[in-house]
Amino acid sequence: MKTSIALIGFMGTGKTVVGKILAEKTGKEFIETDAIIVEKAGRSIPEIFRQDGEIAFRELEIAVIGEVAARKNAVIACGGGAVLNKINIDRLKKESVIVCLTATSQVIMKRTSADTDGRPLLAVADRAKQIEELMKFREPYYERSADITIDTSGMDANAVSERIIEKLKENESKH
Ligand code: S3P
Repeated sequence: MKTSIALIGFMGTGKTVVGKILAEKTGKEFIETDAIIVEKAGRSIPEIFRQDGEIAFRELEIAVIGEVAARKNAVIACGGGAVLNKINIDRLKKESVIVCLTATSQVIMKRTSADTDGRPLLAVADRAKQIEELMKFREPYYERSADITIDTSGMDANAVSERIIEKLKENESKH
């Protein structure tokens, strides 16, 4: 049986904040792939993107997910673009149920509005358009990767974590 939970989904769907609450509620270890990348690189994510480019960041992401995917009894919050490389999902699926958090583009826009330089992909002139385009492109990636999908629009992080726990139970009884 899988004992870990991997949270995937677009930027601003709440993977980190929900992941922390979920880890606490389930007694699992919380792991955030972006934080490990920053620690290993000794640089922030915007710095990595600026200095080495997105492809180099994706390589670091693949390496870190490769390391953490084997962990049991963990909640793994993944960066929003982790789904773009199938190898990440293949590796995560070995020990984790994959939970995808979604939200409407308007909600994403609102939730990321305070973020001025943390997310390089949103540091563009027309953020609303960028969100729409990236979401549209990535939708099939999220869909095909997820075991469980939860629309977080209009829900707070605590309610989302409760919903995940419910869905995991439903999922377990099916298998
Ligand atoms: C990215 C999402 C970010 C981070 C990086 C790239 C993406 O993580 O990994 O800025 O491509 O969607 P969050 O989803 O936690 O913001």
